[in-house]
Amino acid sequence: MPEHNADHCEDHAVPRIELRAVQGLPEFRPGDDLAGPIAAAIGDLRDGDVVVVTSKIVSKVEGRLVAVPEDPAEKDARLRELVDEETERVVARRGRVLVVANKIGLVQANAGVDASNVHRHELALLPVDPDASAARLRAALYERTNKTVAVVITDTMGRPWRVGQTDVAIGSAGLPVLHSYQGMVDTAGNELRVTEVALVDEVAAAADLVKGKLGGVPVAVVRGLTAKEDGSTVANLVRNPADDMFRLGTDDALAQGRREAVPARRSVRAFSGEAVDPKAIRRAVAAALTAPAPHHTRPFRFGWPRDPRKRTELLDAMADRWRRDLASDGRGKDEIDRRVAKGDILRKAPELLIPFLVADGAQPYPDAARTEAEDTMFTVAGGAAVQGLLVALAAEGLGSCWVGSTIFAAAEVHEVLGVPTGWRPLGAVAVGHPAELPQSRELPDPTAALLEW
Ligand SMILES: Cc1cc2nc3c(=O)[nH]c(=O)nc-3n(C[C@H](O)[C@H](O)[C@H](O)COP(=O)(O)O)c2cc1C
Repeated sequence: MPEHNADHCEDHAVPRIELRAVQGLPEFRPGDDLAGPIAAAIGDLRDGDVVVVTSKIVSKVEGRLVAVPEDPAEKDARLRELVDEETERVVARRGRVLVVANKIGLVQANAGVDASNVHRHELALLPVDPDASAARLRAALYERTNKTVAVVITDTMGRPWRVGQTDVAIGSAGLPVLHSYQGMVDTAGNELRVTEVALVDEVAAAADLVKGKLGGVPVAVVRGLTAKEDGSTVANLVRNPADDMFRLGTDDALAQGRREAVPARRSVRAFSGEAVDPKAIRRAVAAALTAPAPHHTRPFRFGWPRDPRKRTELLDAMADRWRRDLASDGRGKDEIDRRVAKGDILRKAPELLIPFLVADGAQPYPDAARTEAEDTMFTVAGGAAVQGLLVALAAEGLGSCWVGSTIFAAAEVHEVLGVPTGWRPLGAVAVGHPAELPQSRELPDPTAALLEW
């Protein structure tokens, strides 16, 4: 069992790894052989060495250079096009900084399209398949030298939570990309459950200490690592977007959340048994109170019958009223039973809210038309408040269904809940955790509903 933090070194008692810059390499151009000059420049390649190669020279020999205009504005426009072509998925953007996942899942600023260490009229794209490039170089080095080495191809990346860049591996062959400490016990006796060291990235960063960024030294040799080949490659380090807690940048996540907030609300009619956090209800009601309303009023109230007896009393009174109304319409008993049973959603929901409109801030008018218009104005404000409540509940992960029934049983609501008769019930809202995740939906085409003049 390893007892210190240099578990990949030949000599565990005195951990030592040698980093050596490989000097004297030529300027590489498309089509050039990489292995010959590297083997020659290293001179004494040994079995077990790790040859760490800056991706830029791999891009060059693989012809991943693109001729671009020297004019800065035109060059920049071409850069944007190339980034777009290389992009599989935008992860984050702020101003001109664009962080994207490329086609093989590497997440980098500008998809790794880069102007450093190439001619001023060129841009370099990343190698198409850096793991394959590493495997080819490894095989070619074996052919030249008969030595079994590992190859790591590196690029420079920023880190989301820290200033500054480090080199990381974008391709590798012959080295385990991860060293897992799972199940091992440290010197203090703690079992390590989740520690997995990204060995190839540590090798890449270490090699950069001797390679540097100014172009002269694109290759380094790391000697003294003992990690055993396991067939893994950098592709194994690419996190599946579904498991990625940070698959969107903050700005983009917030923008998406804002865009989806309204359509994410669905009428949810079946709830799980999970209890609703009362604080979530309070937050949603607070959000609903921000609805626009006439004359700078806040003409909304929300009844919340939390006592099950109170709720049952209310729903029973409403059901009786509904039965009487249906009977007076001439409906038969079976049909009445069937229709009233459909109102069960309000009984089964974990929580129930009764929105009210309190239009005592409405202005008096001498004529009926304006009095009615004033009433409509407050009514639509009530609708806005209820929609705000539903959207806020959906944003809390709660399902809701707005049911109109209290509008038809106002007298029963006033009596059972003991609220003033001037409070107009605006329906009832069933609230709970959805039994199933609500289906997302496409936004409707607004053309028919959006009249432009
Ligand atoms: C004022 C009002 C009353 C409603 N009454 C009921 C109702 O009694 N029962 C019900 O299941 N849904 C009711 N709904 C919900 C609609 O049926 C629902 O919004 C519609 O089917 C669209 O589905 P969505 O909300 O998922 O977009 C009502 C909605 C409103 C705005």
